[in-house]
Amino acid sequence: MQRLSRHLVLWLCLLAVAATAVHAEQSVAPGINRHYESPDFTQWRDTFEQPGREVYARRLEILAASAVQPGMAVADIGAGSGLFTLLFAREVGERGRVYAVDIAPEFVAGIQVRAQAEGFSNVVPVVSEQRSTFLAPNSIDLAFVCDTYHHFEYPQAMLASIHQALRPGGRLIIIDFRREAGFSSSWVMTHVRAGETQVIDEVSVAGFTLSDRPAFLRTNYFLTFTKH
Ligand SMILES: C[S@@+](CC[C@H](N)C(=O)[O-])C[C@H]1O[C@@H](n2cnc3c(N)ncnc32)[C@H](O)[C@@H]1O
Repeated sequence: MQRLSRHLVLWLCLLAVAATAVHAEQSVAPGINRHYESPDFTQWRDTFEQPGREVYARRLEILAASAVQPGMAVADIGAGSGLFTLLFAREVGERGRVYAVDIAPEFVAGIQVRAQAEGFSNVVPVVSEQRSTFLAPNSIDLAFVCDTYHHFEYPQAMLASIHQALRPGGRLIIIDFRREAGFSSSWVMTHVRAGETQVIDEVSVAGFTLSDRPAFLRTNYFLTFTKH
């Protein structure tokens, strides 16, 4: 009994240390989300949803590679204008659910309006915060993070929150800009803090295994991780 309570105290201490480490994380990209403070939904929808943007132009290929099935619970984290939220809502159907997660309440409200107008009752709006998705533990099959990982100011905390929200064997998809000297624009080189290799390293230490890496995009990469 005494041994059991010693073990319990040790575990509680380890948990406290882990929680403190996540909480003590410093911003890795201060100010990167300042454009999304009180954003104009229509203006950003026009920016995010135009053919010159690779992830918009190739959204249907991205949808197919995401392998979303009827009945799944999917979280579109950093949902923006709802470009992918609405595509996923059609795929998961009435038995499924899509959480539209974003730190900007204006984006989440705008997505809700679009979802209602298009007749989707399976879209769940979530106004989150910089360190948490606010999703319940074991509540999702897929976390989808498009053009948003480099906007995470606290990636360790966000990855811990995503890990907790995923069900066993759940997937995390990250699509983000290739950041390679000599290939990427100077805007990408300055705006995006980490390239693909560094992102794989960061996600791998957060309890995920890289499970697929389809190479059909040009200026972005597409990574699928599985929770372990
Ligand atoms: C460049 S937009 C991408 C929007 C959408 N995923 C797309 O590809 O069209 C980045 C989005 O991430 C959101 N964001 C930034 N940090 C976030 C965080 N920690 N959690 C959730 N959303 C975040 C921003 O408010 C913004 O809507």
